[in-house]
Amino acid sequence: MSMPTVFILDFGAQYSQLIARRTREANVYCEIVPHDTPWTELAAREPAAVILTGGPESVLVAEAPAVDTAMYDSDVPILGICYGMQLIARDLGAELVQLDHREYGPALLTIEQAAAPLFARVENRPRVWMSHGDSVLKLPQGFELLASTERCGVAAMGNREKRIYGTQFHPEVAHTQCGAAILGNFLHGIARIGADWKMESFVDSSIREIRSQVGSAKVICALSGGVDSAVAATLVSRAVGEQLTCIFVDNGLLRKGEAELVVEAFRDVLHLDVRAVDARERFLKRLDGVIDPEEKRICIGHEFIAIFEEEAAKIADVKFLVQGTLYPDVIESKTPQSKVGHKIKSHHNVGGLPETMHLQLIEPLRSLFKDEVREVGRVLGLPDHVVQRQPFPGPGLAVRVLGAVSEDRLATLREADAIVRQEIENAHLDPKPWQYFAVLTPLLSVGVMGDGRTYANLVAVRAITSSDGMTADWARLPHELLERISARIVNEVPNVNRVAYDVTSKPPSTVEWE
Ligand code: XMP
Repeated sequence: MSMPTVFILDFGAQYSQLIARRTREANVYCEIVPHDTPWTELAAREPAAVILTGGPESVLVAEAPAVDTAMYDSDVPILGICYGMQLIARDLGAELVQLDHREYGPALLTIEQAAAPLFARVENRPRVWMSHGDSVLKLPQGFELLASTERCGVAAMGNREKRIYGTQFHPEVAHTQCGAAILGNFLHGIARIGADWKMESFVDSSIREIRSQVGSAKVICALSGGVDSAVAATLVSRAVGEQLTCIFVDNGLLRKGEAELVVEAFRDVLHLDVRAVDARERFLKRLDGVIDPEEKRICIGHEFIAIFEEEAAKIADVKFLVQGTLYPDVIESKTPQSKVGHKIKSHHNVGGLPETMHLQLIEPLRSLFKDEVREVGRVLGLPDHVVQRQPFPGPGLAVRVLGAVSEDRLATLREADAIVRQEIENAHLDPKPWQYFAVLTPLLSVGVMGDGRTYANLVAVRAITSSDGMTADWARLPHELLERISARIVNEVPNVNRVAYDVTSKPPSTVEWE
């Protein structure tokens, strides 16, 4: 029997993938489809339920994105969220108004029907998240008012018999209290879908899809050592085995022992066909005399593409390129804000690869969030040190050696960084900082060692707490730990006589120094 499927009809909401994620967290399989998918197409796949997302438009305008109204005549349970609810209301003959002031942010929800299955086990007056400009004024026929807020008369509505529900607020966002329970009530209670879907099922279906997409063609993948490319490559390798060749470019900018670890993990543990390219000298040469961090990033990005293209050209009949694009990467590149936002740093990853290569993309992770990718990695049996890897900038240590990059300076940083990592890991902190590393500053300062004067490098240590790297605070590391880190660095790393700990948050600083 096939897995019960929930179709999420997408009206272009920022939160569509979040709804999908919450549905997966409720252990229910879902697919996001365009809002105007013909109902006959969906009905043929026997949907277990349908969720209509929010969207940026107003249902009151003539060209408002719509659904195939045949959906309402089926007996499939429907949940409309925000725009989705307004659309249901409009299609079923209710009255709507445009608000004078759009309503954004938190509101307290008064549950009008405590016995409504949508609110089972939800305490009255949860804080919910609103974001709308239109409101339902009068309910459609057959619907009852389920909840309201001070500023929104119809904050939730439902037709119990037809199992059609709507919420004006967003149950999928973390700021809505009991949002997961409300969505769970719809999926499990109202639509009666069992909690049977697991990440294993995602893995199985991705493997099937990749197989049918690729056929007998050849596939290449650039491994960076990061979680995303590792998981994407492993997934594709499970699907097409030896048709996949991975290319690992050792740019000499990785941390101590990392290049060996990557190759070993992928070749020996995961049995991937990995071509390791020793490009350490090429990168060093290219970086010679480059001081500006942005220029470093650009040089490294270009060099990487050049090498990758050279290597790919050595493999015959390549048709596909695997990329570990995640959902946040997808959304960042399409949100309108990103067009007007200031560029802080050009993030270079194995992603963003040459369009001139005319390869078709396989992006098996593009609907997932980082922690879900880690979960897929675990299901695939990737070792912990790969799955739990800290974020690491694409240009690697080149941006953590401030100023000129040379093999000597990289070696100094590698040693200091290895001590920072080792000591923080051995301290078994709870919670563990989100990211921690050393930075080699371009400063020299005076010190005294033995009886002699030194004039040597200053190493900075950065350890942060964060949930996504977008904002961060400096980690309050125990003084004894800082003492051990500092003592070991000045004793064990040649040419370093001073260690500083970074106590700035982001903003105003960034995580990396550069
Ligand atoms: P910043 O320095 O911008 O860093 O506050 C935020 C997070 O992003 C990581 N970072 C990168 N990650 N490619 C990446 O995948 C990059 O080029 C890159 N640059 C910075 C940084 O380590 C931190 O976790």
